[in-house]
Amino acid sequence: MKVILADYSGFCFGVEKAINTTFEELEKKQVKDNISSLGPLIHNNQVVKDLEEKGVKVFEDINDISTGSVIVRSHGVSEEIYEIAKDKGLNIIDATCPFVRRIQNIAKKYHDKGYTIAIIGNPKHPEVIGINGWCNNEAIIIKDEENLKQIPKFDKLCVVAQTTMSVDQYEKIIEQLENYANEIVKFNTICSATKERQLAAKNLAEKVEAMIVIGGYHSSNTQKLVSICEEIKPDATYHVETVEDLPLKDIKQYKIVGVTAGASTPKWIINEIIHKLSNI
Ligand code: F3S
Repeated sequence: MKVILADYSGFCFGVEKAINTTFEELEKKQVKDNISSLGPLIHNNQVVKDLEEKGVKVFEDINDISTGSVIVRSHGVSEEIYEIAKDKGLNIIDATCPFVRRIQNIAKKYHDKGYTIAIIGNPKHPEVIGINGWCNNEAIIIKDEENLKQIPKFDKLCVVAQTTMSVDQYEKIIEQLENYANEIVKFNTICSATKERQLAAKNLAEKVEAMIVIGGYHSSNTQKLVSICEEIKPDATYHVETVEDLPLKDIKQYKIVGVTAGASTPKWIINEIIHKLSNI
């Protein structure tokens, strides 16, 4: 079997930075036994398990952490979480991705100027919840075109996007949003790592018989890669987390297979899968 890896895949800059920061902190003895992560550091079960074994405890609620250091992951958190952590005397290890930080800053700046903030993204995603927390939790969140039917007209609207939003979906929504405000300021904040991975996956899916998408089942950017590949290969796109998930019986029928991976997939998992496929 011939296996081709997409031009862009796997760890993005922000995730790599968060992982490196965490490992650096783990090496500092004084925090080793008392380091918590607010939510799983990345959407990858294997990495989270490894970190847990090394002493990083995962908490969903800042109120459950009483001492030590707390890692803010690449998705970022609301302004309020920083205040609570500070009041509790926690040491904050801030691994917010700079691209997410930029969106938080835009949300705060334009909210203070009297704009309504619109976030194009998934209202349940931690990144979106975090951004909303920089504009007093008053943003309108638009997941899809359906949501547009429920929103009123605004005077001044400032639009940002979740970094992992699909570019096509963003463009469809932004085009229609023009009709919903007297004045509109738009920031296409979809991360370049997301765009590159989506485009590379699309190009590769057109050249191969089947696509393997590697990444956490709950990872938003991986799910987007899956849908992009499914549009081109509806019956031959496989989403796996690890080498054990490969549906070998199905895959054996193909001679040329493409591989892509979400932004929170470590290199060793990608290599393991490529190795397995190449030996078929
Ligand atoms: Fe940051 Fe983009 Fe990754 S926003 S966390 S570099 S997908």
